[in-house]
This record gives sequence, C-alpha cells and structure tokens, in this order.
Amino acid sequence: MKVLICGGAGYIGSHLVRELLTQPGYEIIVLDNLSKGHVESIPTGVEFENANICDKESLERVFSKHKPDAVMHFCASIAVGESVTDPLGYYENNVVGTIYLLQTMIKHNVKYFIFSSTAAIFGNPEETPIADNAPTKPINPYGDTKLTVEKILAWTEDAHGLKYVCLRYFNACGAHESGEIGEDHDPETHLIPVVLQVPLGQREFIKIYGDDYDTKDGTCVRDYIHVTDLATAHIKALEYLVRVNKSDRFNLGSGEGYTVKEVIEAVRKVTGHPIPEVIEARRAGDPAVLIAGSERAEKILGWRRKYNKVEDIVATAWKYHQANPNGYNNK
Ligand SMILES: NC(=O)c1ccc[n+]([C@@H]2O[C@H](COP(=O)([O-])OP(=O)(O)OC[C@H]3O[C@@H](n4cnc5c(N)ncnc54)[C@H](O)[C@@H]3O)[C@@H](O)[C@H]2O)c1
Repeated sequence: MKVLICGGAGYIGSHLVRELLTQPGYEIIVLDNLSKGHVESIPTGVEFENANICDKESLERVFSKHKPDAVMHFCASIAVGESVTDPLGYYENNVVGTIYLLQTMIKHNVKYFIFSSTAAIFGNPEETPIADNAPTKPINPYGDTKLTVEKILAWTEDAHGLKYVCLRYFNACGAHESGEIGEDHDPETHLIPVVLQVPLGQREFIKIYGDDYDTKDGTCVRDYIHVTDLATAHIKALEYLVRVNKSDRFNLGSGEGYTVKEVIEAVRKVTGHPIPEVIEARRAGDPAVLIAGSERAEKILGWRRKYNKVEDIVATAWKYHQANPNGYNNK
C-alpha cells in the first residue's frame, strides 16, 4: 500500500514515518513544504515531495506521480496563541489546505484518510476524562479549524464515500528511542522540551502558570502521550479502515494525567539537574484538567501504548535533546 504522509517532516509525522518503515507492505511518500518541518528527519530512501497543500497544482502533480492508496494528514499550523492573532492564516492552512487535499484525493479515487485532530476541539470540557462523544466547543481558532475539518470529513464521506479516521491527540511528547529524531518546534511551547532547556543551559528556570487550580498540587493536569505511541495508533487506524471500511473518531489519551509540577519533577529525576520554578498568574483559557481515556481506540483499533510512565517519556526526549541541543540546526 502506498501511503502519502502529508506533514511527514514534522514532529509527529516523522515518527510515523519511522514506525511505518518497520511494517511490511507499505511504500511511503512524504509531502511537506518544510515551513515547520525538517528535511533531515526524513530517512534516506524515503521519497520526499516539497509541496504545499494550499497549492492545488502541486497536489495534482504529487498525486499523478505517486498514485497513493491512503493519505495521513499531519500538516497544520499548530500554535494556539498564534491562531488567535492570525485566524485567517489558520483557516487557510488548516481548512482550505485540507479541502484541496480532499478534492485531490476524490479526483484520484484515494479512499482512506487519517486525520490529526486534537483535544482542542473540546475546549473547556464539562467532564474528564473526556469521552470520544463529548460535546465539542473549541475556545480558539486552532481548535475550531480542526473541528471544521472533522465536520467536512463527515459530509465528504456521505457525498464521495471517502473513509476516514480522526485521531484526537492530547499532549504529544517524547522522542524516537534511537534519539535520532525528536521534537523541534519554533517557537517551542510544549512543556517537556521547554523544561529540558534548563538542564541544557538554555533557560534558567521554568515558569508555572498558576498553582491555585483545583488539582492535587494546584498546577494544571494534562495527558501526555508518547509520539511513538501516536504513530502506532495511525498504523492501527489505517489497518482498521482497510479491514472494516468504516469511518470513526478516537481520543488518544492515557486516562491519567500529570500535573505541571510532576512533569518538572520527572525531568529532575531523569536529568539529575535542579529545575528552579517561578509561579506566574494563570493563563487565560487554560482548563485545570485535560485528560482522556483511550478505551475505544484500544478496543476497536487494538491500540496499546508502550510508554505509560512520564519518566520513560522524558527519558526519550532527554536522549534526543542531549544529542541535539539545538534541534535539527545542529546537523
Ligand atoms: N504536537 C502536539 O502535541 C499535537 C497535539 C494535537 C494535535 N496535533 C496535530 O498533529 C499534527 C502534527 O503536529 P506536529 O506537532 O508534528 O507539528 P509540526 O509543525 O512539527 O508538523 C507539521 C508539519 O506540516 C508541515 N506543513 C504545515 N503546513 C503545510 C502546508 N501548507 N503544506 C505542506 N506542509 C505543511 C510543516 O512543515 C510540518 O513539517 C498537526 O496537525 C497538529 O495540529 C499535534
């Protein structure tokens, strides 16, 4: 099966590429415009197309040349804060780009689509753990672009028979066990790589936004999922689509969360380095607890997580960042 991996030079997409390479029977093509991705993350021998999903002609060229059987779609603008100041840019890249991608798929009769959705579609959840069918009420343009695509997919299936799986990730984290690829966003806003900047000597202390939430130590609780576990969920989702030919949506959580302070403590343990903390005011729009279960994904897709402990996740991230303190710029 030929799989086109859109956004395969990015953080999660590059880990999917590594996992898919370990499976028999797949031919991989990476499409990425390198706006945020890193060409160095693409393994030798994997075909790479430098193309923009917002450019229909480029998509036409790639689909005519490679004739993929399935598409996994990781491309997006992903910074929540930036989406508030540039909503139109976010709708253009995340929604319009996805529409062009889907139109090209329909034209070329490509039937299977796996979509990177997000916990941000739920906004401030009424209940946690968040169920797969919980009400969707995004509180920022980023989350709304992803929910819009989920809605577009349902109508596209009705009209054209496209089969899709939406995977709603919570906090993707960690790095490939080899330490060769990992998380390198610019700007980096995710907690684990930001905390690791302290032992790397790139930051003196870590700011904690609010320690008066109704949680066990007053700091926010989030659900951390290892990026390799997310990658295996994609492979399970594609296998499911091919086997059952039925669209679905799944939350990919661990069912338990860690507070910001617990994550910082895990970094201290793993790195053996002191991490000074500074408490700041709460940030607007930060829910106290964001966690989800993955019972449906486990039952229906047969997905199993390999990484259950935050220390193990941090250890893989530390291995990558120690070897690449400036990310891909080191190479
Ligand atoms: N990182 C997380 O914790 C997280 C959580 C929930 C959902 N997601 C979703 O997962 C996906 C991947 O996230 P990531 O952390 O790997 O982000 P990333 O920025 O590392 O990867 C996105 C990739 O898409 C590429 N891209 C963006 N716009 C493009 C375009 N118009 N044409 C071609 N390529 C384009 C970028 O160059 C980059 O390589 C995103 O859709 C994101 O919304 C991520």
